[in-house]
Amino acid sequence: MQQQVQFPSGTVNYYLNSSVDELSKICDIDKAVFVTDEHIAQLYPNIFTGRKLLVVPAGEPSKDLSTISSLSEQLILTGAARNSILIGIGGGVVTDITGFLASVYMRGLKFGFVPTSLLAMVDAAIGGKNGVNLGLHKNILGTIRQPEFILYDTSFLQSLPDEEWSNGFAEIIKYACIFDAVLFEELEENSIAFYKNDAAALEDVIARCVAWKNKTVAEDEQEKGIRKLLNFGHTAAHAIENLCTLPHGKAVSIGMAIACKLSEHVTGLDAAITQRLEQLLLRYGLPINISLDATRVMEILKADKKRKDDSIDYILLKNAGEAIIQPLSLQAIENIIATYESDH
Ligand SMILES: NC(=O)c1ccc[n+]([C@@H]2O[C@H](COP(=O)([O-])OP(=O)(O)OC[C@H]3O[C@@H](n4cnc5c(N)ncnc54)[C@H](O)[C@@H]3O)[C@@H](O)[C@H]2O)c1
Ligand SMILES: [Zn+2]
Repeated sequence: MQQQVQFPSGTVNYYLNSSVDELSKICDIDKAVFVTDEHIAQLYPNIFTGRKLLVVPAGEPSKDLSTISSLSEQLILTGAARNSILIGIGGGVVTDITGFLASVYMRGLKFGFVPTSLLAMVDAAIGGKNGVNLGLHKNILGTIRQPEFILYDTSFLQSLPDEEWSNGFAEIIKYACIFDAVLFEELEENSIAFYKNDAAALEDVIARCVAWKNKTVAEDEQEKGIRKLLNFGHTAAHAIENLCTLPHGKAVSIGMAIACKLSEHVTGLDAAITQRLEQLLLRYGLPINISLDATRVMEILKADKKRKDDSIDYILLKNAGEAIIQPLSLQAIENIIATYESDH
Protein backbone atom coordinates (compact mmCIF):
# COMPACT_ATOMS: atom_id res chain seq x y z
CA MET A 1 0.00 0.00 0.00
CA GLN A 2 1.58 3.25 -1.11
CA GLN A 3 0.76 6.58 0.47
CA GLN A 4 2.35 10.00 -0.02
CA VAL A 5 2.62 12.35 2.93
CA GLN A 6 3.51 16.02 2.46
CA PHE A 7 5.69 17.74 5.03
CA PRO A 8 6.89 21.33 4.75
CA SER A 9 10.43 20.14 3.91
CA GLY A 10 9.48 17.35 1.51
CA THR A 11 7.16 14.56 0.45
CA VAL A 12 7.65 11.05 1.80
CA ASN A 13 6.42 7.90 0.08
CA TYR A 14 5.18 5.34 2.60
CA TYR A 15 5.05 1.71 1.54
CA LEU A 16 3.05 0.00 4.28
CA ASN A 17 2.60 -3.80 4.35
CA SER A 18 5.39 -4.09 1.78
CA SER A 19 8.48 -6.25 1.33
CA VAL A 20 12.15 -5.35 1.27
CA ASP A 21 12.26 -7.21 -2.08
CA GLU A 22 10.35 -4.25 -3.56
CA LEU A 23 13.25 -1.84 -2.95
CA SER A 24 14.56 -2.11 -6.51
CA LYS A 25 11.13 -1.00 -7.79
CA ILE A 26 10.92 2.12 -5.65
CA CYS A 27 14.40 3.59 -6.01
CA ASP A 28 17.46 3.43 -8.24
CA ILE A 29 19.13 0.62 -6.36
CA ASP A 30 22.33 0.83 -8.40
CA LYS A 31 22.93 4.28 -6.92
CA ALA A 32 22.25 3.05 -3.39
CA VAL A 33 24.66 2.78 -0.51
CA PHE A 34 23.13 0.71 2.31
CA VAL A 35 23.68 1.47 5.98
CA THR A 36 22.89 -1.15 8.60
CA ASP A 37 24.12 -2.54 11.91
CA GLU A 38 25.99 -5.75 12.63
CA HIS A 39 22.88 -7.63 13.79
CA ILE A 40 20.87 -6.94 10.63
CA ALA A 41 23.90 -7.54 8.38
CA GLN A 42 24.31 -10.97 9.97
CA LEU A 43 20.62 -11.90 10.06
CA TYR A 44 19.76 -10.75 6.53
CA PRO A 45 22.95 -11.05 4.40
CA ASN A 46 21.01 -11.67 1.17
CA ILE A 47 19.58 -8.14 1.14
CA PHE A 48 23.08 -6.72 0.83
CA THR A 49 24.68 -9.18 -1.57
CA GLY A 50 26.44 -7.29 -4.35
CA ARG A 51 25.51 -3.92 -2.81
CA LYS A 52 27.61 -1.11 -1.40
CA LEU A 53 27.22 -1.51 2.35
CA LEU A 54 28.34 0.37 5.46
CA VAL A 55 27.93 -1.50 8.76
CA VAL A 56 27.97 0.05 12.24
CA PRO A 57 28.18 -1.81 15.56
CA ALA A 58 24.66 -2.41 16.95
CA GLY A 59 23.50 -0.15 19.76
CA GLU A 60 23.19 3.44 20.92
CA PRO A 61 26.96 4.13 21.29
CA SER A 62 27.20 4.10 17.47
CA LYS A 63 24.99 7.19 17.30
CA ASP A 64 27.82 9.69 17.58
CA LEU A 65 30.06 11.91 15.52
CA SER A 66 32.92 9.43 15.34
CA THR A 67 30.58 7.03 13.49
CA ILE A 68 29.49 9.83 11.16
CA SER A 69 33.11 10.70 10.48
CA SER A 70 34.08 7.08 9.83
CA LEU A 71 31.03 6.47 7.59
CA SER A 72 31.80 9.66 5.64
CA GLU A 73 35.31 8.40 4.94
CA GLN A 74 33.84 5.09 3.79
CA LEU A 75 31.37 6.95 1.57
CA ILE A 76 34.26 8.74 -0.12
CA LEU A 77 35.95 5.38 -0.71
CA THR A 78 32.77 3.90 -2.24
CA GLY A 79 32.68 6.85 -4.64
CA ALA A 80 29.34 8.13 -3.32
CA ALA A 81 28.28 11.28 -5.16
CA ARG A 82 25.44 13.80 -5.06
CA ASN A 83 23.19 11.44 -7.02
CA SER A 84 23.72 8.53 -4.61
CA ILE A 85 20.94 7.46 -2.28
CA LEU A 86 21.59 6.18 1.25
CA ILE A 87 19.25 3.45 2.45
CA GLY A 88 19.19 2.79 6.19
CA ILE A 89 17.94 -0.70 7.08
CA GLY A 90 17.72 -1.21 10.82
CA GLY A 91 16.41 0.11 14.10
CA GLY A 92 16.22 3.72 15.21
CA VAL A 93 19.98 3.96 15.66
CA VAL A 94 20.53 3.09 12.00
CA THR A 95 17.75 5.35 10.72
CA ASP A 96 19.01 8.31 12.81
CA ILE A 97 22.62 7.80 11.68
CA THR A 98 21.60 7.36 8.04
CA GLY A 99 19.42 10.49 8.04
CA PHE A 100 22.13 12.58 9.70
CA LEU A 101 24.87 11.30 7.40
CA ALA A 102 22.72 11.86 4.31
CA SER A 103 21.88 15.39 5.49
CA VAL A 104 25.49 16.51 5.85
CA TYR A 105 27.49 14.45 3.34
CA MET A 106 28.17 16.70 0.33
CA ARG A 107 25.54 19.05 1.80
CA GLY A 108 22.84 16.46 1.35
CA LEU A 109 22.08 13.17 -0.38
CA LYS A 110 18.71 11.52 -0.88
CA PHE A 111 17.90 8.81 1.63
CA GLY A 112 15.29 6.20 2.47
CA PHE A 113 14.51 3.90 5.37
CA VAL A 114 13.52 0.31 5.93
CA PRO A 115 12.84 0.23 9.69
CA THR A 116 13.39 -3.24 11.16
CA SER A 117 12.56 -2.69 14.85
CA LEU A 118 9.03 -2.03 16.06
CA LEU A 119 10.24 1.21 17.64
CA ALA A 120 11.70 2.45 14.37
CA MET A 121 8.52 1.44 12.48
CA VAL A 122 6.17 3.39 14.74
CA ASP A 123 8.44 6.30 15.60
CA ALA A 124 12.15 6.70 14.82
CA ALA A 125 11.92 6.38 11.03
CA ILE A 126 9.10 8.94 10.81
CA GLY A 127 9.23 12.71 11.00
CA GLY A 128 12.57 13.77 9.57
CA LYS A 129 14.49 14.26 12.81
CA ASN A 130 17.96 12.88 12.36
CA GLY A 131 20.01 13.22 15.51
CA VAL A 132 23.23 11.95 17.01
CA ASN A 133 24.41 12.16 20.61
CA LEU A 134 27.28 14.12 22.07
CA GLY A 135 28.48 12.48 25.26
CA LEU A 136 25.51 12.24 27.59
CA HIS A 137 23.43 14.68 25.56
CA LYS A 138 20.89 12.81 23.49
CA ASN A 139 20.23 13.90 19.90
CA ILE A 140 21.80 17.28 20.60
CA LEU A 141 23.25 17.44 17.10
CA GLY A 142 20.74 16.96 14.36
CA THR A 143 18.89 17.98 11.26
CA ILE A 144 15.29 17.98 10.11
CA ARG A 145 15.16 16.45 6.68
CA GLN A 146 12.67 13.98 5.28
CA PRO A 147 13.54 10.65 3.65
CA GLU A 148 12.37 9.92 0.10
CA PHE A 149 10.60 6.79 1.29
CA ILE A 150 9.89 4.55 4.25
CA LEU A 151 9.25 0.92 3.42
CA TYR A 152 7.52 -1.31 5.97
CA ASP A 153 8.26 -5.02 5.96
CA THR A 154 6.91 -6.46 9.21
CA SER A 155 8.48 -9.86 8.50
CA PHE A 156 11.67 -8.36 9.98
CA LEU A 157 9.94 -8.45 13.35
CA GLN A 158 10.14 -12.24 13.39
CA SER A 159 13.78 -11.95 14.45
CA LEU A 160 13.24 -9.04 16.86
CA PRO A 161 14.25 -9.98 20.44
CA ASP A 162 11.46 -9.85 23.06
CA GLU A 163 13.07 -6.93 24.84
CA GLU A 164 12.92 -4.87 21.65
CA TRP A 165 9.22 -5.64 21.29
CA SER A 166 8.76 -4.08 24.71
CA ASN A 167 10.80 -1.04 23.69
CA GLY A 168 8.61 -0.56 20.62
CA PHE A 169 5.46 -0.79 22.71
CA ALA A 170 6.75 2.05 24.90
CA GLU A 171 6.29 4.42 21.94
CA ILE A 172 2.96 2.81 20.98
CA ILE A 173 1.72 3.37 24.55
CA LYS A 174 2.99 6.96 24.24
CA TYR A 175 0.71 7.63 21.23
CA ALA A 176 -2.19 6.06 23.12
CA CYS A 177 -1.55 8.32 26.14
CA ILE A 178 -1.36 11.57 24.20
CA PHE A 179 -3.87 11.03 21.37
CA ASP A 180 -5.84 7.84 21.44
CA ALA A 181 -7.93 6.64 24.40
CA VAL A 182 -9.39 3.85 22.22
CA LEU A 183 -5.91 2.51 21.50
CA PHE A 184 -5.11 2.79 25.24
CA GLU A 185 -8.04 0.50 26.05
CA GLU A 186 -7.20 -1.88 23.22
CA LEU A 187 -3.63 -2.20 24.52
CA GLU A 188 -4.97 -2.86 28.03
CA GLU A 189 -6.92 -5.83 26.69
CA ASN A 190 -4.12 -7.29 24.55
CA SER A 191 -0.47 -8.21 25.00
CA ILE A 192 2.78 -8.58 23.06
CA ALA A 193 2.00 -12.28 22.55
CA PHE A 194 -1.36 -11.33 21.01
CA TYR A 195 0.18 -8.87 18.52
CA LYS A 196 2.96 -11.32 17.63
CA ASN A 197 0.33 -13.87 16.64
CA ASP A 198 -2.07 -11.53 14.87
CA ALA A 199 -0.36 -9.89 11.92
CA ALA A 200 -3.45 -7.88 10.97
CA ALA A 201 -3.84 -6.44 14.49
CA LEU A 202 -0.14 -5.56 14.59
CA GLU A 203 -0.21 -3.91 11.17
CA ASP A 204 -3.28 -1.96 12.23
CA VAL A 205 -1.54 -0.67 15.39
CA ILE A 206 1.57 0.28 13.39
CA ALA A 207 -0.55 2.11 10.79
CA ARG A 208 -2.40 4.04 13.52
CA CYS A 209 0.88 5.16 15.13
CA VAL A 210 2.30 6.12 11.70
CA ALA A 211 -0.85 8.15 11.04
CA TRP A 212 -0.67 9.95 14.42
CA LYS A 213 2.97 10.85 13.91
CA ASN A 214 2.50 11.94 10.30
CA LYS A 215 -0.47 14.13 11.17
CA THR A 216 1.42 15.81 14.01
CA VAL A 217 4.65 16.36 12.08
CA ALA A 218 2.84 17.56 8.94
CA GLU A 219 1.22 20.29 11.07
CA ASP A 220 4.37 21.28 12.94
CA GLU A 221 7.55 19.87 11.41
CA GLN A 222 9.83 22.34 13.22
CA GLU A 223 8.34 21.51 16.64
CA LYS A 224 7.07 24.97 17.50
CA GLY A 225 3.84 23.63 19.02
CA ILE A 226 1.86 20.43 18.67
CA ARG A 227 4.87 18.23 17.75
CA LYS A 228 6.14 18.79 21.28
CA LEU A 229 3.35 16.45 22.45
CA LEU A 230 5.35 13.56 20.99
CA ASN A 231 7.95 14.24 23.67
CA PHE A 232 5.61 12.83 26.34
CA GLY A 233 7.88 10.80 28.63
CA HIS A 234 10.96 11.92 26.74
CA THR A 235 12.27 14.86 28.78
CA ALA A 236 13.26 12.73 31.74
CA ALA A 237 13.89 9.74 29.43
CA HIS A 238 16.70 11.44 27.57
CA ALA A 239 18.55 12.08 30.82
CA ILE A 240 17.79 8.61 32.23
CA GLU A 241 18.68 6.85 28.99
CA ASN A 242 22.27 7.94 28.98
CA LEU A 243 22.88 8.24 32.73
CA CYS A 244 21.60 4.72 33.37
CA THR A 245 22.51 3.23 29.96
CA LEU A 246 18.95 2.06 29.47
CA PRO A 247 17.42 1.35 26.04
CA HIS A 248 15.33 4.23 24.68
CA GLY A 249 11.97 2.43 25.11
CA LYS A 250 12.63 1.56 28.77
CA ALA A 251 13.77 5.11 29.54
CA VAL A 252 10.61 6.47 27.87
CA SER A 253 8.53 4.10 29.98
CA ILE A 254 10.01 5.46 33.22
CA GLY A 255 9.75 8.99 31.77
CA MET A 256 6.01 8.49 31.15
CA ALA A 257 5.51 7.28 34.73
CA ILE A 258 7.34 10.39 36.01
CA ALA A 259 5.29 12.65 33.71
CA CYS A 260 2.09 11.14 35.13
CA LYS A 261 3.21 11.89 38.69
CA LEU A 262 3.95 15.47 37.60
CA SER A 263 0.55 15.60 35.90
CA GLU A 264 -1.24 14.59 39.10
CA HIS A 265 0.30 17.65 40.78
CA VAL A 266 -0.08 20.12 37.91
CA THR A 267 -3.12 19.16 35.79
CA GLY A 268 -4.96 17.21 38.47
CA LEU A 269 -4.67 13.96 36.47
CA ASP A 270 -6.69 11.27 38.23
CA ALA A 271 -4.25 8.97 40.08
CA ALA A 272 -6.29 6.05 38.68
CA ILE A 273 -4.99 6.94 35.19
CA THR A 274 -1.40 6.85 36.46
CA GLN A 275 -2.10 3.41 37.91
CA ARG A 276 -3.66 2.17 34.66
CA LEU A 277 -0.65 3.45 32.71
CA GLU A 278 1.76 1.79 35.13
CA GLN A 279 -0.13 -1.52 34.80
CA LEU A 280 -0.09 -1.16 31.02
CA LEU A 281 3.67 -0.54 30.95
CA LEU A 282 4.30 -3.57 33.17
CA ARG A 283 1.99 -5.67 30.96
CA TYR A 284 4.25 -4.87 28.00
CA GLY A 285 7.44 -5.76 29.88
CA LEU A 286 8.45 -2.19 30.62
CA PRO A 287 9.90 -0.67 33.81
CA ILE A 288 8.15 2.09 35.76
CA ASN A 289 10.83 3.08 38.25
CA ILE A 290 14.54 3.32 38.71
CA SER A 291 16.74 4.84 41.36
CA LEU A 292 17.70 8.28 40.12
CA ASP A 293 20.36 10.81 41.05
CA ALA A 294 18.16 13.92 40.75
CA THR A 295 21.15 16.30 40.63
CA ARG A 296 22.70 14.54 37.65
CA VAL A 297 19.34 14.26 35.88
CA MET A 298 18.89 18.01 36.34
CA GLU A 299 22.37 18.76 34.93
CA ILE A 300 21.34 17.01 31.73
CA LEU A 301 17.88 18.62 31.67
CA LYS A 302 19.49 22.06 31.85
CA ALA A 303 21.11 21.34 28.48
CA ASP A 304 17.80 20.01 27.08
CA LYS A 305 16.80 21.35 23.67
CA LYS A 306 13.35 22.12 25.08
CA ARG A 307 14.67 24.38 27.86
CA LYS A 308 13.78 28.10 27.74
CA ASP A 309 15.62 30.11 30.40
CA ASP A 310 14.70 28.35 33.65
CA SER A 311 11.70 26.38 32.41
CA ILE A 312 11.07 23.39 30.17
CA ASP A 313 7.97 22.70 28.09
CA TYR A 314 6.91 19.49 29.79
CA ILE A 315 4.25 17.23 28.29
CA LEU A 316 1.61 16.32 30.84
CA LEU A 317 -1.58 14.30 30.68
CA LYS A 318 -5.04 15.57 31.52
CA ASN A 319 -6.54 12.18 30.80
CA ALA A 320 -5.73 9.00 28.88
CA GLY A 321 -5.59 10.21 25.27
CA GLU A 322 -5.31 13.89 26.16
CA ALA A 323 -1.98 15.70 26.63
CA ILE A 324 -0.94 19.32 27.08
CA ILE A 325 2.26 21.33 26.77
CA GLN A 326 3.04 22.89 30.16
CA PRO A 327 6.06 25.10 30.88
CA LEU A 328 7.46 23.94 34.24
CA SER A 329 10.27 25.52 36.20
CA LEU A 330 13.45 23.46 36.57
CA GLN A 331 12.91 23.67 40.33
CA ALA A 332 9.41 22.13 40.12
CA ILE A 333 10.76 19.29 37.98
CA GLU A 334 13.66 18.70 40.33
CA ASN A 335 11.28 18.48 43.31
CA ILE A 336 9.25 15.73 41.65
CA ILE A 337 12.26 13.80 40.41
CA ALA A 338 13.83 13.99 43.88
CA THR A 339 10.67 12.59 45.51
CA TYR A 340 10.00 10.15 42.67
CA GLU A 341 12.19 7.41 44.07
CA SER A 342 10.53 7.50 47.47
CA ASP A 343 7.05 7.45 45.84
CA HIS A 344 7.68 3.93 44.51
N1 LIG B 1 14.40 10.34 14.96
C1 LIG B 1 13.36 10.19 15.74
O1 LIG B 1 12.35 10.86 15.61
C2 LIG B 1 13.42 9.14 16.81
C3 LIG B 1 12.24 8.77 17.48
C4 LIG B 1 12.31 7.75 18.43
C5 LIG B 1 13.53 7.15 18.71
N2 LIG B 1 14.65 7.55 18.05
C6 LIG B 1 15.95 6.90 18.32
O2 LIG B 1 15.85 5.54 17.99
C7 LIG B 1 16.79 4.81 18.77
C8 LIG B 1 16.12 3.59 19.34
O3 LIG B 1 15.67 2.79 18.27
P1 LIG B 1 15.64 1.21 18.41
O4 LIG B 1 14.96 0.83 19.65
O5 LIG B 1 15.17 0.66 17.13
O6 LIG B 1 17.19 0.90 18.68
P2 LIG B 1 18.31 0.10 17.85
O7 LIG B 1 18.44 0.61 16.49
O8 LIG B 1 19.51 0.09 18.72
O9 LIG B 1 17.69 -1.36 17.78
C9 LIG B 1 17.55 -2.11 18.96
C10 LIG B 1 18.24 -3.48 18.81
O10 LIG B 1 17.42 -4.29 17.98
C11 LIG B 1 18.20 -4.84 16.94
N3 LIG B 1 17.29 -5.07 15.81
C12 LIG B 1 16.64 -4.13 15.08
N4 LIG B 1 15.82 -4.74 14.21
C13 LIG B 1 15.97 -6.07 14.40
C14 LIG B 1 15.38 -7.21 13.79
N5 LIG B 1 14.44 -7.11 12.84
N6 LIG B 1 15.80 -8.44 14.21
C15 LIG B 1 16.73 -8.55 15.21
N7 LIG B 1 17.29 -7.51 15.82
C16 LIG B 1 16.92 -6.28 15.41
C17 LIG B 1 19.29 -3.84 16.69
O11 LIG B 1 20.40 -4.44 16.05
C18 LIG B 1 19.61 -3.41 18.13
O12 LIG B 1 20.45 -4.36 18.73
C19 LIG B 1 17.31 5.76 19.83
O13 LIG B 1 18.59 6.20 19.49
C20 LIG B 1 16.32 6.91 19.77
O14 LIG B 1 16.88 8.14 20.15
C21 LIG B 1 14.62 8.52 17.12
ZN1 LIG C 1 11.16 8.02 21.59
